[in-house]
Amino acid sequence: MSEPLRSPVIRHSPSSGSGSPDVWGIYEPDTGSIQYVCADPETRQAALIDVVWNFDPKNYRFSTDSMDQVLDLVRRNDLTVQWVLDTHPHADHVMASAHLRQRTGAPNAIGARLPDIARIWADLYNLPDAFDPERDFDHLFADGETFKIGNLPVTVMLSPGHTLGSITYVCGDAAFVHDTLMQPDAGTSRSDFPGGNTEELWDSIQAILALPPETRLNVGHDYGTKDRDEPQWEATVAEHRANNIHVRDGTRREDYVERRRKRDATLRLPDCILAALQINLRGGRLPPAEDDGHSYLKLPVNRFD
Ligand SMILES: [Fe+2]
Repeated sequence: MSEPLRSPVIRHSPSSGSGSPDVWGIYEPDTGSIQYVCADPETRQAALIDVVWNFDPKNYRFSTDSMDQVLDLVRRNDLTVQWVLDTHPHADHVMASAHLRQRTGAPNAIGARLPDIARIWADLYNLPDAFDPERDFDHLFADGETFKIGNLPVTVMLSPGHTLGSITYVCGDAAFVHDTLMQPDAGTSRSDFPGGNTEELWDSIQAILALPPETRLNVGHDYGTKDRDEPQWEATVAEHRANNIHVRDGTRREDYVERRRKRDATLRLPDCILAALQINLRGGRLPPAEDDGHSYLKLPVNRFD
């Protein structure tokens, strides 16, 4: 990859008028993650979505560079954080949720099926009592639930497939679709993690692509392509329906499922999945310190191909 994809990039996608949020995307280059600030231009209230707590998997060290950058953007734009949101427990990066909740005083939230995901991973880690989403999140959003960012209504759509409990936040003409779609020239996200399901991912994507054609879809990851070394993360429903290399109009469900499964069979686990999930399923908190004052992570061996 050339240099631009390895630098943080911030872009503003402005409100198109009444009912439409201001959206900022902040690209985190180490994991190719896009973090979002979604704000009501009138009240200056904002939600932070899928913000990263930087983790260096070589030295097992954390830093707050990304969340600092996001909170700096919040300050510079005179916004107030009203919600700290995640779309799902991420496998490739550690979530900043607990930190941001503490630093902003805003409640943190994720989808209501997180306990089902936590049960799968509690078994894989043999940590039956470690994860308690009710303890670590202020709210778990059900499918179809609505809430507000300032005066802007937000609707939650359950979008399983990448995980069994991923959710999409739809706020006016912007939707935060996380790891369902990728950019039109990159296709879709993987569906092979425990609890993932390729048919469900197709169905979730179809529901997203049924939103109004001008809806700005904001994806969770971008790694560039062989023809593109600048990160991108926003495209409209119409652009996906015309050009998405995996799911454009005319694609058949069974062809997509076969293609996605074949591709997933070639992918290795993300570098830090086994560290990330046991922190993310605690809302972005490390396991409690042991009697020497340090936290330790647990790694199952010979459980994954
Ligand atoms: Fe993910």
